[in-house]
Amino acid sequence: MKVITTIEGMRAYREEQQDRSVGFVPTMGYLHEGHMSMVESSTKENDRTVVSIFVNPLQFGPDEDFDNYPRNFERDRKIAESYGADAVFYPSTEEMYPRKRTISLNVIDRTDVLCGPSRPGHFEGVATVIVKLLQIIQPGRMYLGQKDAQQVAVLEGLVADFNIPTEIIPCPTVREEDGLAKSSRNVNLTEQERKEAPFLYKSLKQAEKMAEKGERDPEAIKAEITKMIQENTSGTIDYREVLSYPYLKPATPEDEKWICAVAVYFQHARLIDNIILTIS
Ligand code: PAJ
Repeated sequence: MKVITTIEGMRAYREEQQDRSVGFVPTMGYLHEGHMSMVESSTKENDRTVVSIFVNPLQFGPDEDFDNYPRNFERDRKIAESYGADAVFYPSTEEMYPRKRTISLNVIDRTDVLCGPSRPGHFEGVATVIVKLLQIIQPGRMYLGQKDAQQVAVLEGLVADFNIPTEIIPCPTVREEDGLAKSSRNVNLTEQERKEAPFLYKSLKQAEKMAEKGERDPEAIKAEITKMIQENTSGTIDYREVLSYPYLKPATPEDEKWICAVAVYFQHARLIDNIILTIS
């Protein structure tokens, strides 16, 4: 497996692979099975798989956990290699952002809900780094996790708006045995919080049960989610939402699908999770 740290090096690698299909898995590292399930899909569906590892400063707010974000490149390198990645793109911040920027992307849809309001500038930062990575790596397919459903929605908009010839492949959320969605940030939970954190998913499964029994009032579902999280965790709810999917508009019984999504602040980690429900 190649480790490539410069844009020039990545372009040279891409040139060598000209006739081969390339799948791309963008990450911020501290790799876990969620990331690796996408690497596995990519290795099956493409001749070459490139994983990027870059903690993108642009997508973190001033009070967020950029400094505290877990990093361990040696560990990541071994994991990526063992899952069959062909190349890891691991640039420095200076390599990706060498000078004052001229252009700022403004995400104007799908960000007035969920993580948008509590993370101003976040999706602009994600869109910017993804445009850059797609230009550098030029993959035919990009693999994204459904755990970050809003990120998938925003990046699908980006690729469509700018006619980027990369197909987005959304991939299912990989979970711990107790249901907690795998996340690099889980290591920042205290022991007690780690025991409480599965209640995010439990509350979403409860929402699913309600919908299966015919509940079509988003407020009733939200109230149940709130109750379960408040009664079983020490975390503070950032949001719990029921919206139409993939449009992320207020849910109505006429929608085909809903997304139930939660975000909860623990002491040193903000966790998110979601579930997609078929409504009609
Ligand atoms: P990161 O949080 O490292 O996640 C990288 C990719 O892994 C994202 O597509 C995310 O949705 C997916 N992922 C995370 N946890 C998952 C899980 N439990 N199951 C399945 N997939 C999971 O998301 C980012 O990085 C960044 O915003 C990035 C897209 C790399 C841009 O900087």
